[in-house]
Amino acid sequence: MHSAGRRRRTAFFTASNQRVEMKIAIVGCGYVADFYMTTLANHPELELGGVYDRDAGRLAAFSRHYGAKAFGSLAALLADREVGLVLNLTNPHSHFAVTKAALEAGKHVYSEKPLAMAYEDAESLVALAEAKGLSLSGAPASSLGEAGAAVKAAVAAGKVGRVRLVYAELEDGPVFLEPLHKWRSVSGAPWPARDEFKVGCILEHAGYYLTWMCAMFGPVERMTTFASRRYDDKLTGQPPPEIAADFSTACLEFASGVVARITCGLVAPQDRSLHIVGDEGVLTVMDAWASRGAIYLRSPTGEDPGLAGRLLHRLQRHLPGRSFLGRRLPVAKFKGKLPAYPSCMDFARGPASQAAAIAQGETPQLSARFVLHITEIALAMQGALGGAVVTLRSRF
Ligand SMILES: NC(=O)c1ccc[n+]([C@@H]2O[C@H](COP(=O)([O-])OP(=O)(O)OC[C@H]3O[C@@H](n4cnc5c(N)ncnc54)[C@H](O)[C@@H]3O)[C@@H](O)[C@H]2O)c1
Repeated sequence: MHSAGRRRRTAFFTASNQRVEMKIAIVGCGYVADFYMTTLANHPELELGGVYDRDAGRLAAFSRHYGAKAFGSLAALLADREVGLVLNLTNPHSHFAVTKAALEAGKHVYSEKPLAMAYEDAESLVALAEAKGLSLSGAPASSLGEAGAAVKAAVAAGKVGRVRLVYAELEDGPVFLEPLHKWRSVSGAPWPARDEFKVGCILEHAGYYLTWMCAMFGPVERMTTFASRRYDDKLTGQPPPEIAADFSTACLEFASGVVARITCGLVAPQDRSLHIVGDEGVLTVMDAWASRGAIYLRSPTGEDPGLAGRLLHRLQRHLPGRSFLGRRLPVAKFKGKLPAYPSCMDFARGPASQAAAIAQGETPQLSARFVLHITEIALAMQGALGGAVVTLRSRF
């Protein structure tokens, strides 16, 4: 039994000595909700006011596991005047309706990705939040992690010189060949395989590096993208029309002049690396899903400038695989709790950073317009069967 639901309300103080405290409520008590509960312990300034799920069995199991108050309906949760921020952790097809209802009830909202399944819907949520003076933010928050911050600082400090090209890999491997039916979250939620394959791995995953790149290089102006469904059968019994594309790639032209290629899929072997190539060096992040993951800096030709690195580079001609090793850059320490591999991210950091911004009357780092931009790119990539050239509508 975890005690998150019964924690005493605590507070922290910002640099300007301001008390920050926010009562949150969770809608959607499925697989990812456990990742938020695990990492809520890292943010005592957030107090859980209660949870709701339309699946009564799931609601009962989750609220029992964490000792959290179970609301009987979404309306009841939204009517609780103490709840300031709603975490929308429902399935993507429910995101729009739940976020809209929460905003209409006067609540700030943090949404899991994507903001909505259609760009116009996502855009209307941003307009609604702005009209009501409410804060809207959303996942993924991995760019706020220690590795994300270290990469951003290294690029800003000119460690790779002028950035010419970025390669972002979000290959999750053929997970549908694994015993998915056995996967369970801490509180017993099954991994929602059918929904994941219907929504598509690109909408599920592209945001991880899109957020890192947009945080560093600003908005994307234009993109050329292509998607395909390489496996019609995901062994879930779903008919092919219900299965989304499982491979997509996009070349992104940032307004700042940087060009990037992002690839996302469930076909090629697992690879969640990021390579930032500049005039003076190459920076490599090994795993987008590791808050404190390793970061390496190499020479512009991709070699570790040290003796060991040069030897390794030579040896690689005769060895299988590639090495991205170089000079290891420091990543800040983090002693908090993280979910088990592979999802080693501080999920609750997103709403925590939003709550701090609300308390200070500021726009969160993952602002509504930023999240809308990420949603627009991910939707375009997921829907690009046959290929498309897209001029982005959103800006932040
Ligand atoms: N599964 C993961 O590993 C993972 C990781 C990161 C992010 N996410 C994201 O988290 C979100 C949820 O995914 P999940 O894996 O937890 O799915 P899930 O199916 O396990 O859980 C979603 C829960 O939301 C509930 N729900 C759906 N619509 C609702 C509504 N209108 N009102 C109340 N409850 C509703 C469902 O009953 C379900 O219990 C998705 O946006 C997904 O992209 C998932």
